[in-house]
Amino acid sequence: MKEPKQMSVSAIQNGTVIDHVPARNLFKVIQILGLDRIDNQITFGTNLESKKLGRKAIIKISEKFFADDDINRIALVAPDAKLNIIKDYEVVEKKVVEVPDYIVGIARCMNPKCITNFEMVTTQFKVVSKKNVLLRCHYCEKITNQENMQII
Ligand code: CTP
Ligand code: ZN
Repeated sequence: MKEPKQMSVSAIQNGTVIDHVPARNLFKVIQILGLDRIDNQITFGTNLESKKLGRKAIIKISEKFFADDDINRIALVAPDAKLNIIKDYEVVEKKVVEVPDYIVGIARCMNPKCITNFEMVTTQFKVVSKKNVLLRCHYCEKITNQENMQII
């Protein structure tokens, strides 16, 4: 007999559940979404078992519904994240994140001579490949690849 499903983090009434976040990037997701600066109730669990990710994290934000452009900012650190929109305790919508066309901030340019690495300039990139992410710097035009990508 199948074990009844148990939630490791309590259900929420209304809001957004971000599931399948790699555990090591939980705090990056929190930072990118600015969750440390809002008053909503937030619960999270981390180092939960996941067949796909090894260890995953889950974040539940009550009474918060994100614009796609805002939520897609987490794609660099949580490419497999699944969003569940909750209304009245029911999952009313499921979404996946998509790597955006442009990235502002979030990543560092891998060119040590780039102005963004020695002056207070926010990094800006055009995403030239989404599958194996490649970012082209707006300032120096050098490409930063996934292996060299450092999240700020
Ligand atoms: N959830 C929640 N509060 C609710 C309903 C759901 O926090 N009132 C959470 C669940 O804990 C789960 C996610 O939202 O992490 C998705 O819920 P559901 O679709 O019921 O779960 P699964 O079928 O496991 O979804 P999937 O396989 O797509 O991850
Ligand atoms: Zn650069």
